[in-house]
Amino acid sequence: MKAVVYHGIGDIRVDDVPEPRIEQPTDAIVRITTAAICGTDLHFVRGTMSGMKPGKVLGHEGVGVVEEVGTQIHSFKPGDRVVISAVLGCGSCGYCRRGLFAQCDNANPYGPRSGTASFGSPEAQGPFNGLQAEYARVPFAHTNLVRLPENVTEAQAITLSDIYPTGYFGAVLADASDGKIVTVWGCGPVGQFAVLSAYQRGASRVIAIDGHADRLEHARRRGAEVINFNEVDPVVAIMELTDGIGADCAIDAVGVDGESPKSGPAAGRDDERNAEDQRTISPNLDSRGQDGHWKPGDAPSQAQTWAAESLAKVGTLGIVGVYPPTDRFFPIGTTMARNLTVRAGNGNHPRYIPKLLDMVASGQVRPEDVVTEHEPLTDAIGAYREFDLRSPGWLKVALQAT
Ligand SMILES: NC(=O)c1ccc[n+]([C@@H]2O[C@H](COP(=O)([O-])OP(=O)(O)OC[C@H]3O[C@@H](n4cnc5c(N)ncnc54)[C@H](O)[C@@H]3O)[C@@H](O)[C@H]2O)c1
Ligand SMILES: [Zn+2]
Ligand SMILES: [Zn+2]
Repeated sequence: MKAVVYHGIGDIRVDDVPEPRIEQPTDAIVRITTAAICGTDLHFVRGTMSGMKPGKVLGHEGVGVVEEVGTQIHSFKPGDRVVISAVLGCGSCGYCRRGLFAQCDNANPYGPRSGTASFGSPEAQGPFNGLQAEYARVPFAHTNLVRLPENVTEAQAITLSDIYPTGYFGAVLADASDGKIVTVWGCGPVGQFAVLSAYQRGASRVIAIDGHADRLEHARRRGAEVINFNEVDPVVAIMELTDGIGADCAIDAVGVDGESPKSGPAAGRDDERNAEDQRTISPNLDSRGQDGHWKPGDAPSQAQTWAAESLAKVGTLGIVGVYPPTDRFFPIGTTMARNLTVRAGNGNHPRYIPKLLDMVASGQVRPEDVVTEHEPLTDAIGAYREFDLRSPGWLKVALQAT
């Protein structure tokens, strides 16, 4: 079968690989009809999240049709149309029972403290091949598959695999609730769903920050007040917009490939600290990338620093942007001085997907606008390159089976 395979930093290819087979009685094999490229995949290909094993199939977002199930799967059968959870739980351990699927004790065969189990990820997150492929093996299918009603389209369903539950989880972590003012840092696909989710949880105002005009325009259409950090100092702007008090909640939807401002009043101010962060986090990485692509972000802790500085006293920061274990930079002084609360982590997706799916199926939300590009799986590398450059309009790429 065809699949997008990781060969090394900056080197991904569409290869022919063997089809997956049932390995455990709780597995299912799913024929993937739609996969997607995530900002997380960019961290892997750029090398800012290390530990990817050459030969691994990439991708953790998928929708498809069940082909075959193991002997312990009694809720799905061949032909069922499903969305696959990007975060894998076993559905039985103490953590899963409390809805804390991202910290499941059993899903990752490398052990309970190894890392959140997911597809197509650095080896610490498990050996699971990814979903940018024609077929995939889904472990603990009773927990990690969700059946799709007929009226939910492929473009709607693919958002439920990872980006919508992650944006929602960001709003939960940041304690976005009735009447609050929420800042959303990063207007990529996850940031767009953080804006939507903050409003769904009752926020009165959402202020979204990015450096790309087209992404800010998407957030504005979702009702956010938008700030371009290449035009104004975002901390000054947020303080002005909130009567000098700051925001109640902040959601970091940026991650380790954060960028510094290249123009405007905030440009250059934190360059020295940013360079030191980047050197410490990824000492062996070429900061120039490769032939104009796969360039690591130059400011890994910029968004967190701005987010903390623009929070009101006793505000809450929720971090869903992904940072590697080598990252030791955080604005702890500001957090301490203002009694801030910080919560972080991978999303507990199986807990939220059914509820978000209900809202999509009933027409309450239209998540499909975020999926701006639809490309055949065979053209995945070109699509990765556009998404990596954040080319105007390339907000989210769905990969279609051919
Ligand atoms: N925790 C989870 O479960 C989970 C799941 C999915 C994705 N993620 C992570 O969420 C993050 C966002 O994912 P995505 O697919 O939207 O990625 P993306 O790369 O498309 O979006 C990131 C956005 O942040 C913006 N940005 C860069 N520097 C900034 C700064 N200093 N301030 C404000 N905005 C800035 C970029 O311009 C870009 O639009 C990534 O780190 C990804 O790994 C986490
Ligand atoms: Zn993802
Ligand atoms: Zn579990």
